[in-house]
Amino acid sequence: MWDATGKSVFKDQRTLSFDYVPQKLVHREEQMKRLIMLFRPVLSSDFSQNAVLIGSVGTGKTATSKRFCMDLKEYGEKHQKTIDWTIVNCRQRNSESSVILQVVNHFQPNFPDRGFSITEMLQILRKDLEKRKMHMVIVLDEADVLLKKAGPDLVYKLTRFGEEKVDGREYISLVLISQKNIFDLLDAASASTFKRTNAIEFGKYTYDELKDIVAQRAELAFHDGVMGDDAVDLVAEVASEWGDARFAIEILEKTGMLADEEGVGSISVEHVRGAKAEAYSSITESKLIDLDRHQRLTLLAIARSVKGKAFITTPEAESAYKVACEEYEEKSRAHTAFWGLMKDLDTLGIVSAKKSGPGISGKTTVIKLLDIPAKVLERKVTQILDGE
Ligand SMILES: Nc1ncnc2c1ncn2[C@@H]1O[C@H](COP(=O)(O)OP(=O)(O)O)[C@@H](O)[C@H]1O
Ligand SMILES: [Mg+2]
Repeated sequence: MWDATGKSVFKDQRTLSFDYVPQKLVHREEQMKRLIMLFRPVLSSDFSQNAVLIGSVGTGKTATSKRFCMDLKEYGEKHQKTIDWTIVNCRQRNSESSVILQVVNHFQPNFPDRGFSITEMLQILRKDLEKRKMHMVIVLDEADVLLKKAGPDLVYKLTRFGEEKVDGREYISLVLISQKNIFDLLDAASASTFKRTNAIEFGKYTYDELKDIVAQRAELAFHDGVMGDDAVDLVAEVASEWGDARFAIEILEKTGMLADEEGVGSISVEHVRGAKAEAYSSITESKLIDLDRHQRLTLLAIARSVKGKAFITTPEAESAYKVACEEYEEKSRAHTAFWGLMKDLDTLGIVSAKKSGPGISGKTTVIKLLDIPAKVLERKVTQILDGE
């Protein structure tokens, strides 16, 4: 099995890993151009800038922000501007002090993780930047999680801090990334700094776009000629149900692993089908882990009531939700909030909730499961809820 002469399809499997950032993000040229335009004053006049990247899972927000920051830093190096950047995932670090601590750690890896207030840590960060005459881009990924949990205070402080001039220079720029619009989570002062015109949208990828993304990554990851166009197309087609490039790349890696298990030296559509079947179990799992309790209860309700049917309507989902809440001893949320929960699941690409088309009376919403069998989903959500 470890025999180096075994014909692995992989040329460089690292290029399929989570944090690999391709040199070029195909079909994100517009977003990249907007970022470059916005950040020109940072380079030309030492001003700070803010941007908000908004789009659902797997639309390339994180990758684009990283590519942009790397390119900006490199450009700076060539033009005698010291620029650096750091990205903090606010889902993993969802208190204000742990977010700012990670930024401070960028310059002082051994900085103590207790004993300093946020204001003190900001001052320390400022000193580090002044010393280096450096401009720093701080990317707060999944910023909505921080804003919801801790409020807008830190973002406000960082924007104020960014605008304070020292020697005529501004030291910090901020990029917020979120799945949802976050302007209503910001306080008035930061909301005005984060102008709506600084919002950059990341739409779901179409089939054709995913095809290019998959083809690009297959070329990096696999030996020449190992994966045919038909297999590339099928990966794109599977992922296009979600518009999610992360899913596409996960499947791509699995196809390679299946091909290697068989030792056949090439990737066929059969491997894609196999990979899809495996991926559906893990992708939903990884999405389910991130849900909060009421989103999970909503999903459980939908899974239960849609079993054996093509779709259900909002009232059906809502009454099943109330039953599920009773069962798990939770107070059920009111109608509008319940609607919000369903929209969350739709945004995450776990269910589809759309206004009804022809053939169904009234303006009701039609709720569907995308491609996961209802039974499988019900079992998984139940496991997670029971394990809480
Ligand atoms: N336009 C693109 N070109 C190449 N790879 C992409 C593109 N968009 C996303 N990806 C890849 O898809 C995966 C998910 O992208 P990511 O930036 O994490 O999405 P998001 O942050 O919006 O959830 C990453 O591996 C990323 O490299
Ligand atoms: Mg991301």
